[in-house]
Amino acid sequence: PKARPLAGKTIVMTSGPTHEPIDPVRYIANRSSGKQGHAIAAALARLGASVHLVSGPVNIPDPEGVHVIHVETAREMNAAVEQLLPADAAVMVAAVADWRTANTADQKIKKKPGESAPTLSMVENPDILAGVGHSPKRPGLVVGFAAETENVQENALRKLERKGADWIVANDVSGDVMGGDNNRVRILSRDGIEEWPQMSKDQVAERLAEKIAARLLA
Ligand code: C5P
Repeated sequence: PKARPLAGKTIVMTSGPTHEPIDPVRYIANRSSGKQGHAIAAALARLGASVHLVSGPVNIPDPEGVHVIHVETAREMNAAVEQLLPADAAVMVAAVADWRTANTADQKIKKKPGESAPTLSMVENPDILAGVGHSPKRPGLVVGFAAETENVQENALRKLERKGADWIVANDVSGDVMGGDNNRVRILSRDGIEEWPQMSKDQVAERLAEKIAARLLA
C-alpha cells in the first residue's frame, strides 16, 4: 500500500496567472503556464492531502485528485483563498498581476482614426500571499514563490519577511524556465538556504511535497 502521510491535512494553493480585464476582450496578465503549481498540487494530493487549488486561466488540465476553483482576476483569487482558510498549509505559486486597471470598460474600446491611444490607469491588487502570511487564520506553514531575474537570493529573503512566509521557493527565470518543463530552485527559510540541482518541474513538485510532509508531521 502507498504511504499517504498527509491524510487528514488540508492545503490551500494558488497556481497560474491572473487576468485583469481592460474591456470585454482585452486583459493584462503575467506569463505563467501553471505547470509548476499544478504539479505541486498533484504531488501533495498523491501524499494524501486534501488540496484546494485556486487556479487562474491556464491551458493544462486540472491536476488529478485535487479540488480546483477556477478564477480570472487577482481579487477573485484572493476571495477564494480567504474562503479556504483555515488550512494546515498554504502554497502560493500563482503569478498574480500586481496591478489591475482602475476602470474596466463595459464595451470594447474602439480604435478611431485620428484619436490618440488610450491611457490605462492602474491600481494595486491585493497581495494574496501576504494576506495569508499575516492572517489571523494563518496556516502553520506558508510557502511562497519568487520568480526573479536578478539578485535571486537577496530578493527572496526580503520577500520572506514582507509576506510573512516560512519558505520562499526562488527560481531564476532569466533562462527558459517560463513554460518549460525544467526548473532550478533554492528554498529559503529563516534557517538557511537549500539549493536544488536543475530537475523537471514534476521532480521539484515531488521533492517539495515531501519536504512539506516532513514539516507538517514534525
Ligand atoms: O512579490 P512577488 O510577486 O515577486 O512575490 C511572489 C510570491 O507572492 C508568489 O508566491 C506569488 O504567488 C505571491 N503573490 C501573491 N499575490 C500577489 C503577488 C504575489 O500571492 N499580488
